[in-house]
Amino acid sequence: MLGMYRSRLGKNLDQHTLDYVSSISDDSEIAIYDIIGSQAHSIMLYENKILNKTEVKKILAALEKLKKQNLSAKSSAEDIHELIETMVIKKTGLEAGGKMHTARSRNDQVALDLRMKIRDDINTICSCILDMVETLILLAEKHTATAMPLYTHLQQAQIGTFSHFLISYSDALLRDFERLYDTFERVNHSPLGAGPIGGTSLPINRNSTAKMLGFFAVVENSIDATSNRDVVAEYVGNIAILMTNLSRIAEDLVIWSTSEFSFVELSDQFSSPSSVMPQKKNPDILELTRGKTARVIGNLVAILSNLKGLASGYGRDLQEIKPSVFLSSRTAISALVVLNSMFATLKVNKQKMNQIADSGYLAALDIAEALVKEGLPFRTAHKIVGKLVQIAHESKISLSELTSSEVTRSVADKEFDAKKLGKIISSINAQSSLKNRSSLGSSGIAEQNRLISKRKSKIKQYRNNVTKRTSQITLAIERLSSRVKMLSK
Ligand code: ARG
Repeated sequence: MLGMYRSRLGKNLDQHTLDYVSSISDDSEIAIYDIIGSQAHSIMLYENKILNKTEVKKILAALEKLKKQNLSAKSSAEDIHELIETMVIKKTGLEAGGKMHTARSRNDQVALDLRMKIRDDINTICSCILDMVETLILLAEKHTATAMPLYTHLQQAQIGTFSHFLISYSDALLRDFERLYDTFERVNHSPLGAGPIGGTSLPINRNSTAKMLGFFAVVENSIDATSNRDVVAEYVGNIAILMTNLSRIAEDLVIWSTSEFSFVELSDQFSSPSSVMPQKKNPDILELTRGKTARVIGNLVAILSNLKGLASGYGRDLQEIKPSVFLSSRTAISALVVLNSMFATLKVNKQKMNQIADSGYLAALDIAEALVKEGLPFRTAHKIVGKLVQIAHESKISLSELTSSEVTRSVADKEFDAKKLGKIISSINAQSSLKNRSSLGSSGIAEQNRLISKRKSKIKQYRNNVTKRTSQITLAIERLSSRVKMLSK
């Protein structure tokens, strides 16, 4: 039998070509949206007297049955839209089912399905981000006084706290949340009813289908509605940035869980063994997070490359965008879930962190700032402490172990009283440094508590916002579903 759309062509595709052309296996991700969208479209056609009561009843009932059917089965359809229409016609006969595709095209249909899928994915990912941020903040609360070295160039820089790191991760993730949250506004517009590209002469109501499906409004220009995928690129771009943040976090944990650092230990549940070295406990999950991030970045590049040379109006190239989107969503969701559990079960080696923070030359800047407080120009203070570090390094001792004659040598130019300098050195340690650090957003202990409580209220507010959005969509779909029930009676 000739394929449903092929009257102009007279011949079917051979199996190999069909496999090449078909998107049916990717389309399982949007099947449910295609069914719901078709129900809204059919009700709108009925409202506008394009379908009669009997016809809409049959179509809606057939679509409802399809919700429970496995649509991924092998078929000769080129995509889910063709498959669903064929099955509806099979169930209802051509008389009714043959009218379902009136005043729409697969071009506005696929754009609709993709937007419905992405808006759901955004809400899911936003919730997953908040779950992870919550875990990070809970952990941070326990470590506001856990001193640890901060690094620049991966060289010891200043004394900090573990909580400060965790809050910095939270802040990056909250920005990821905000980006996705903003993108939702642009995604949540309906392209349905744009037709193939230029609209229709039939009396449809695009606002009605948009409302039934829980959209804010329509994508107004029908050329734009069917051609644009910039919001899709924006979404995957956000996911790529989110994954880049997760990848950086993963890399920190990889470093800190080495035997050389031993700042943290991953739970056995989230570690992998070696097939040959019995002692190994490998951070494979973290490494895969880095690896999967590369794939998501690849997805973004694939989408942008697809779009950049495309003429306006639907081109089949656009079909290839879909797997990049679905894979990105899946990766982001599982990365967030897995990393969240990893942090929730992380063993933190407080002693080791504190011990390293108190050794070496991490207090150098604190000593220099103490000299500034005594009235020295910062440049002079920098020079004196630089000398102190040089002498200590030569003798392979820490700053607190310097003898008084070594301290005297560092102020050879008599810029500062050596005895006083010795007192300053011995008064500074990791804890005093953290107590005195007071600038906004710094590692200071007092700042940690302020930062944490601010983020806690942000999480609460953001959760409410996501819940509100999710329930708006759920409500619209429930209303649609009861109309379907009423009309199929
Ligand atoms: N399978 C197609 C896609 O995913 C659906 C749209 C097909 N439209 C067309 N004019 N060939 O993009």
